[in-house]
Formats: sequence, structure tokens, C-alpha cells
Amino acid sequence: MVILGIETSCDETAAAVVKDGKIVLSNVVSSSQNLHAKTGGIIPEEAARKQIEFIIPAVEKSLRAAKLNEKDIDAIAVTYGPGLIGSLLVGVETAKTLSAIWNKPLVPVNHLVAHLYANFISHTTPSFPAMGLVVSGGHSDLVMMNDHNNIALLGSTKDDAAGEAFDKISRLLGLGYPGGPAISKASKEINKSNNTKGGLLSLFPRPMIHEDNFDFSFSGLKTSVNNYVKKNPGASRTVLAAEVQEAIVDVLVAKSQKAVEKYKPKSFLLAGGVSANTLLRERIAAQISSKVYLPEIEYATDNAAMVASCAYSRYFPVPWRDVSANPELIIVD
Ligand code: KG4
Ligand code: ZN
Repeated sequence: MVILGIETSCDETAAAVVKDGKIVLSNVVSSSQNLHAKTGGIIPEEAARKQIEFIIPAVEKSLRAAKLNEKDIDAIAVTYGPGLIGSLLVGVETAKTLSAIWNKPLVPVNHLVAHLYANFISHTTPSFPAMGLVVSGGHSDLVMMNDHNNIALLGSTKDDAAGEAFDKISRLLGLGYPGGPAISKASKEINKSNNTKGGLLSLFPRPMIHEDNFDFSFSGLKTSVNNYVKKNPGASRTVLAAEVQEAIVDVLVAKSQKAVEKYKPKSFLLAGGVSANTLLRERIAAQISSKVYLPEIEYATDNAAMVASCAYSRYFPVPWRDVSANPELIIVD
């Protein structure tokens, strides 16, 4: 089955063609990130305007790259939430229009669940039950996937998401946007200076690390970094970046480890934009006892291949008239 996926929940405009949920025939991602880098964060209105420009060319390019035309597409999949309303509408309305004029089934997809499916692309298929850690710009969720259609929430962030913490702290340290890659890059510089990783001082708190639940909280970390910088204005941004990265990764790995020990899943799926982080990938691979799946970097941050893959395994077409964007959607739908 060949599915055209469409993804526009944040600042990416993505279209991809995927066969049988696994074989990526094309994966097109246009981003307005450079635009937002100038302002240090996403301006939703600007993002949506760019997406209106990019969406049809992205769909055309994805079909061309797959060497297919619309007759070869069996269904259309689209992210309907969560995300920015203006951005979601661009993808949803485009997908509805294509579904109506091409007469193809339309599968609405939950963006957070789609991130988990980045691990089903070009890998051996993960066995269930599979635990998933979805860490993105807006969400941090630990879930148990008992089956494709049975996902239970074990814990989630009480305030800022892990990616949001990277983004806000990076801005505070003047390291740029998006914050995850910026902090990760600055942290790597530490090895080139006199400091070594072993020399990190655990300057910042590990919020909720010892609490007996699977929830997260990252807003206190941002406050703590802010206070530290005020008291120590000359502190090395490189060292601070490395300290922040350690603190976030420590919490994510400790909570995941604790959940794996309790529920003993067969597989562990790391997912969401933050799963592109090298330190997090290394630590999860080293410290989780279940079989670990790490998405290829191309499928870690927002893309439409994961949307098409998700729709293949959770194939529930809905008449296009009944599909609407839902910015507040949660991972358990
Ligand atoms: O999943 P995603 O691409 O978009 C959302 O659904 O939000 O995630 C974006 C988030 C941003 O917060 C970004 O800073 C973070 O993922 N991110 C990273 C890295 N690459 C992207 N965080 C840490 N390390 C990275 N290498
Ligand atoms: Zn995402």
C-alpha cells in the first residue's frame, strides 16, 4: 500500500511517499526555521504563511521523487494535531482537498504517535509491548504501546517539554534557535577546551528525578540557569550548555530506566525531535535493557514519512468532511 503523508504541525512543511509503512520512496521537508532563527523562536503567523507557499510544491516534489503520480497513491495521511492551529490547517485542508478531488481515502494522524513510527521505518519491526519516549518541542511523554492501537500514557511533562527547555535555555544563553542542536553543538566544544566532560559539576537540578512517577518537569531548570547566569555573567556558555544538556538527558534516561525496570517492555522507542540528540541516543542505547530503537536522524525531527508509516499501521480512514485540525490533541487519542 502506497501512502502520501503530509505534515505541517509546526514550522516544517513536509510530504512523503511511503510503501507498506516501511519503504520510503520520497521524503521532502521544507522548513521556515531560518526565518525563525532571526527572531529566536517561531512566529506562528509567519510559519503558516510560509507553509501555504510550500505545501503544493512539497507534495508535487514528493510524487516526482517517488516517480509516481496520484493514480499510484492508495491513501493520503495527514497530521491533524497537536500543533499550531494555522500550521495544522494548511496540511489538513490540503489533504482534504486532495482526498476529495483524487477520490482517495484520508487518514488523520496524531503527530506524537507518528513520531513513534519513525522507528518502524527501515528498521526491523519493534516487538510489542514497546515503551516509547516522545520528546519534542512541545511534548515529553513516556508511553506503553501494547499494540498499534493500544497506547497507554505512563507520564508526561508537568510544564515545559524537553525540547522547549533546550529552546528557551539556548535563547537565554544567546546560543540561537532551534536550541537543541545549538546546545548540543556548544556542548561538543567543551572537549576542545580545557574542560572535559568528566569535569562537569552538575550545576543544575535534575527535576523530579527521584519522584516515584514517570512525569517530568523542566521549567525549574530554566529558572535555575537564569539565576546562575545573573550571578555569574562571565560563565562560559560552552560549559553551561554542556551542564544543561547533561541535566536534561540525566532525567530523561533515569525516568526511562525506571519505567523499563517496572514494565519490562520488549522494545524501547526513542522518538521526537530531541531524539536527534547524540548524548541522549548514546545514554539510552547504553542504559536501557530492552531492545532500543533510535530513529534515523532524517526521521527524528518533523517529517511526513513517519506520518505515512503511522497511517499504514493504524489505518482508519475518515470521510474528508469529518476531518478537522485539533491543536490540543494528546498522545492517547
Ligand atoms: O519533533 P520536533 O521536530 O518538532 C515538534 O514536534 O516540536 O522537535 C523539535 C524540538 C526542538 O525543541 C529542538 O530544539 C529539538 O527538537 N531538537 C533537539 C535536537 N534537534 C532538535 N534537541 C536536542 N538535541 C538535538 N540535536
Ligand atoms: Zn514533532
